[in-house]
Amino acid sequence: MSRATFQLALLDAAHDRAAFNSDSEPLNRYLREQVTQDVRRRVAACFVALADEKRIAGYYTLASASLLLADLPASTGKKLPRYPTVPTVRMGRLAVDQAFKGQGLGGALLADALDRAARSEIGAYALMVEAKDEAAAAFYRHHGFIVLSESPRTLFLPLATVQPSRD
Ligand SMILES: CC(C)(COP(=O)(O)OP(=O)(O)OC[C@H]1O[C@@H](n2cnc3c(N)ncnc32)[C@H](O)[C@@H]1OP(=O)(O)O)[C@@H](O)C(=O)NCCC(=O)NCCS
Repeated sequence: MSRATFQLALLDAAHDRAAFNSDSEPLNRYLREQVTQDVRRRVAACFVALADEKRIAGYYTLASASLLLADLPASTGKKLPRYPTVPTVRMGRLAVDQAFKGQGLGGALLADALDRAARSEIGAYALMVEAKDEAAAAFYRHHGFIVLSESPRTLFLPLATVQPSRD
């Protein structure tokens, strides 16, 4: 299968949000109608994979978040300080346009999010996600994410396991 190349960038006004069409209508609508407000209010940052100057092939959002220490698996929690919460980065949304599915782009966007979170100068223990359904949870498990036993749609990957890129 041929693999297209994509440019990763911060979302900006020149990008065509209206044409984006993933399998998930809520994620399409979020990109069309909500994301620019969230970015303006600094409650999310949005990164896009561009197929050309305007065409968005995929996107994800990041924001700071936390997990309750008590919710982590005991083997993880016992290695952390006894504060009630553990700082994390939340990947709030991730979607790939139907035209670009199955070409490695979802995995590449996830790797980019992990890299960005791991390179941040602000402390964060893990990248966390709330999977919207079982297929999404399976995608994250496939990439090594750990499930919270009390809420199996919440998954995390410790950032210490990520080898940051060098630029
Ligand atoms: C989930 C989604 C982002 C995957 O994007 P994609 O570009 O098709 O995925 P990729 O081609 O990068 O797949 C990367 C790897 O994940 C695997 N994978 C993809 N979907 C998977 C799933 N549902 N369960 C398990 N593994 C999965 C692929 O087999 C591939 O494995 P490999 O690297 O070992 O070959 C995309 O299908 C999508 O946008 N879905 C709708 C929105 C959604 O569910 N978002 C999830 C966040 S809630």
